[in-house]
Amino acid sequence: MKISKALFSKKVSLEDIGLQSKNALAFLFMFVIPTLLACYLIFLAPLVISDKNMLLRHTRTIIILMSVCGLFGYLFLRKVFSTLIGIIKKAEYISFGNKGEKIEVVWNDELKDLAQSFNRINAGLETKVLELSRSIEKTYYDTLVMLARIVEAKDTYSAGHLERVSSYVQMIAKKLGLEEEAERMLMGGALLHDLGKVGIEDAILKKKGQLTPQEYEIVKQHSVIGENILKPLHSMSKLSILVRHHHEFYDGTGYPDGLKGEEIPLAARILTVVDIYDALITDRSYRKALSHDEGIKMLRKYAGNKLDPKLVEMFIGLITNNGNAKR
Ligand SMILES: [Fe+2]
Repeated sequence: MKISKALFSKKVSLEDIGLQSKNALAFLFMFVIPTLLACYLIFLAPLVISDKNMLLRHTRTIIILMSVCGLFGYLFLRKVFSTLIGIIKKAEYISFGNKGEKIEVVWNDELKDLAQSFNRINAGLETKVLELSRSIEKTYYDTLVMLARIVEAKDTYSAGHLERVSSYVQMIAKKLGLEEEAERMLMGGALLHDLGKVGIEDAILKKKGQLTPQEYEIVKQHSVIGENILKPLHSMSKLSILVRHHHEFYDGTGYPDGLKGEEIPLAARILTVVDIYDALITDRSYRKALSHDEGIKMLRKYAGNKLDPKLVEMFIGLITNNGNAKR
C-alpha cells in the first residue's frame, strides 16, 4: 500500500506501507528534517534570536531534535532491512550446504513477498535434496543386494539362501508385530548378512570339505567386512549392526564380539535362527542336507545355547503349523 493511501486511510499502519514509502520515511527523518533544522539553525535563528543565551539554549534543543530524528530514522531503516538481512544471511548459510530455516516475516511489504518466495524455494530445495538422497541410498542398497547375490551365486551350496532367509525373517517380524520399518530393515539384513564374503578368497569359500582352523578364522571376518561396507551410509547404520552380529551365539560363544543373550540385538538373534536352520536343511560341501524334521531337532538342540530359545520355538511354530518351510 502506498504511503499516501495509508496516510488517508482510517488506520495508518507501518506494517502495510510499501518498501519505497518506508525508505522515504527513513530518508525524511535521517536527512530532510535534520538538514532543514540545520539550515534554520545556521541561517534563520541568528537573525530572529538576538539574546546569546537564548540562542545557545535554542541551538542545544535543535541539535537534540536533529539527533533524535536521525536516530529514529536509522532504527526505522534497520527494522525495514532486518528481513532482507535475514534472507541474505540464510541464503549464505544454505550456500555452504547447511539445512535452511524458514524466515519469519516482520512487516507486510515487498520484503515479505521476497521472504515468502525464499521460504518456498528453500522448502522445494529441501524436498529435492531429500528425494535425491533417498534415490542415491536406494541405488546404493540395490547395488549391495546385487553384490550379495553375486557372492551367493558363486557358492553352489547356498543358491536361494538369501531369499529364503529373507522370507523367514519376514514371517517372524509379522508374528512379533514389528513396525514396517523394522520389518524392512530385518529383510534387508537378511539379504545383506553375508555381503562381507565378497572380501573372502574364493578358494576358501568354494573349498570342498571342512575348513582348517586358519581358514575358518578368515571366513569369520565376513561379518565385520560386511559391516564396514554398510557403515559409511547413515541410513544403513542399523543394517550394519545386524550384519556385524549375525554370528553371535546366545551363550556368548559366537563372533565377532562374543555378545550374550539379550546383549545381541533382537534382529541379529532372529537372523541367526533362520540362517542356521536354512544352512541345516541345505547341502553343504562337508555334509548332506538334513530333512525338515532333523533341522527342527537341531534347532531345539541349539535353543538356549547357540540360539534364543523363545525365537526358536516361535520359528518352529511358524514353519511347522503353517507348512511354511521352504526348500
Ligand atoms: Fe554369515
